[in-house]
Amino acid sequence: MVKICCIGAGYVGGPTMAVIALKCPFIEVTVVDISVSRIDAWNSEQLPIYEPGLEDVVKQCRGKNLFFSCDVEKHVGEADIVFVSVNTPTKTQGLGAGKAADLTYWESAARMIADVSKSDKIVVEKSTVPVKTAEAIEKILTHNSDGINFQILSNPEFLAEGTAIQDLLTPNRVLIGGRETPEGIKAIEKLKNVYANWVPVESILCTNLWSAELSKLAANAFLAQRISSVNAISALCEATGADISEVSHSVGTDTRIGPKFLNASVGFGGSCFQKDILNLVYICECNGLPEVANYWKHIIRINDYQKSRFVNRVVSSMFNTASGKKIAILGFAFKKDTGDTRETPAIDVCKGLLGEKANLSIYDPQVSADHIERDLSTEKFDWDHPAHLQPMSPTAIKQVRVEWDAYEATKDAHGLCFLTEWDEFKKLDFQRIYNDMQRPSFVFDGRNIVDAVKLRRIGFIVYSVGKPLDPWLKDLPAVA
Ligand code: NAD
Ligand code: UDX
Repeated sequence: MVKICCIGAGYVGGPTMAVIALKCPFIEVTVVDISVSRIDAWNSEQLPIYEPGLEDVVKQCRGKNLFFSCDVEKHVGEADIVFVSVNTPTKTQGLGAGKAADLTYWESAARMIADVSKSDKIVVEKSTVPVKTAEAIEKILTHNSDGINFQILSNPEFLAEGTAIQDLLTPNRVLIGGRETPEGIKAIEKLKNVYANWVPVESILCTNLWSAELSKLAANAFLAQRISSVNAISALCEATGADISEVSHSVGTDTRIGPKFLNASVGFGGSCFQKDILNLVYICECNGLPEVANYWKHIIRINDYQKSRFVNRVVSSMFNTASGKKIAILGFAFKKDTGDTRETPAIDVCKGLLGEKANLSIYDPQVSADHIERDLSTEKFDWDHPAHLQPMSPTAIKQVRVEWDAYEATKDAHGLCFLTEWDEFKKLDFQRIYNDMQRPSFVFDGRNIVDAVKLRRIGFIVYSVGKPLDPWLKDLPAVA
C-alpha cells in the first residue's frame, strides 16, 4: 500500500488529505501536526475547521485509510510521498519583515524529513512558498541525509475556504512542477497518478518547478487585483452616481474579462491574498524590479484604502462622531461559510471604529468571542505567530461586546455594518431590527447583500459599497 504523510493539519492539509483518502481507498493517508489540540480535534466529533462537506468526507475515511497523528517522525519515516502543508506567514522581524514569507516552519519540517528518512521519498511543496524555495529545500534535504534520494515537487493548492471540498473534488486544474530529469519526471508521474484517480488527466498540468511555485503567487495576485480594481471603481461610482453592480455586470459580460471575482466589498481578506502579494513584492525587490514591486504593492494599498474609506463613511454619516454610540457588526469572518478570520477586513474596520470611540456589538455565526477579542488585540501579521499575542487593552474590552444573535447585537444600536456576506443575514427581520434601533438608524452594507430600497422603505438610511448614495447622505462632505 502506498503511504502518504502530510505535515500540517490546517485549512489545506486536513481537507486535501481527506479528499485524497476518499478518492484513493488503496492509499494510506496520515496527517501529522505538532499541535496536539489540532490533532485531537481532527480525531473528535468537533473538527478544528468549519468547511461545508468536510465532516462527511472525514467520517467516511477516518480510521480506515485516513489518520491524524502527532507522531510526526514515525509517519514521515514510513511514507513514500510527504506533503508539506505548514503555514508560511509574513515575516514580522528581520530581513524582509512585513513582506517576505517566513519559512521557519517549512525549514524545520524539511530538516525533520532529512533526519527521519531511511528510504527514498518524494517531498511535495503544498504550502505557498516563494519561487526558488525548492532549491533551498533540496539543499537542506541532501546535505542532511546520506544516500537517500529526495525528489522535490511543487504542487500548490488552489482551494478557497468555504468551498474547499468542492474545489478539491472538481478542481479547475491540478498543478505539478518538478525537475526536468528522468528522476524528476518519474516523481511527477507518480503524483499525477494519485490525482488521476478522480481528476481528468487534461486538467493535471505539469511544469518545471519554478513555474509551479510562481504560478500560485501569480494566481492569487491576479485574483486580488480584480477585487482591488472593482473596489477602486466603486469609489468612483459613489462619487458620480454610477452603480457598481451595473458596471461590474457590464464589464464582466465581456468574455475576455468574465463575470467572477468582480463583487465590490469592504475589502478582501483571508490568509492568502495579502501575504502572497507581499511575498511577490519582496521577490520583485530582491530581483531588482522596483517598478514591478510597486505595481503589486498598490493592490494592497487600494485594499487598505477601501477599509478606511468604509470607516470614514460610517463616521461621517453619523454626524462625524461615533463616540459612545453603539454600532452593530454583523459578520467577522473574512468571507461566508468559514470561521477563519485571518486578515479579515472586519479587524481593520473594527479597530478604526474603536479608534473613534464607538461601542461595538459583534455577531458572527462561526466566530467565537475569544477569537474576536484576540484578533482585535493583535498587531498586523501576528495572527500566525501566537507568541506575539497580547491581551486586549482594558479600554478596548469595555468597547466590545460579542453576541450570539443578530437581534441582540443590533438592539439600541445607531448603526449596523455588514462585513461578511452570510446567507442568514439576508433573511433577517429588518422591521424588527429597525424597531429596536436608535433613530436615525443607519445600515452600512460592506458586502452589498441587503435590498437597499426595501430597507429605505422601512426607514433606514442605507449605504451600500459603490451604489448611488442615499439621498440623506448625499449632502454630506465627500469621503476620502
Ligand atoms: P494553517 O495554519 O491552518 O495550518 C498549518 C499547520 O501546520 C498548523 O496546524 C501548524 O501547527 C502545522 N505545523 C507548522 N509547522 C509544523 C511542523 N514543523 N511539523 C508539523 N506541523 C507543523 O495553514 P493553512 O491555511 O492550512 O495554510 C498552509 C499553507 O497552504 C500556507 O502556505 C498557505 O499559504 C497555503 N494555502 C492556504 C490556503 C487557504 O485557503 N488557507 C489555500 C491555498 C494555499
Ligand atoms: C484564495 C483563492 O481564491 C484561492 O484560490 C487560494 O488557493 C487561496 O486564496 P480564499 O482566501 O479562501 O482563497 O477566499 P476567496 O474566495 O478568494 O476570497 C478572498 C477574499 O476576497 C474574501 O475576503 C472575499 O470576501 C473577497 N472577495 C472575493 C471580494 O471582496 N469580492 C469578490 O468578488 C471575491
